[in-house]
Amino acid sequence: MSRMRVVVDTDLCEGHALCLNAAPDVFELDEDDRAIVSAVDLTGDVLARVGAAVIRCPVQAISLQST
Ligand code: F3S
Repeated sequence: MSRMRVVVDTDLCEGHALCLNAAPDVFELDEDDRAIVSAVDLTGDVLARVGAAVIRCPVQAISLQST
């Protein structure tokens, strides 16, 4: 089974913070209001919440990649 990792494109991120609402255990904002990934073990319901964050981000700054 391939593992997934989540990547935030900080050039695209505008700090809308919908990803934090969807998955507060995975995302946080840095001092420039750019999302950073605070957890990397993406399994089960965590992966589902990250999927919701990918969909909700209005500027498509979040992507899921298989490692
Ligand atoms: Fe940035 Fe999108 Fe989250 S703009 S703060 S990655 S919802």
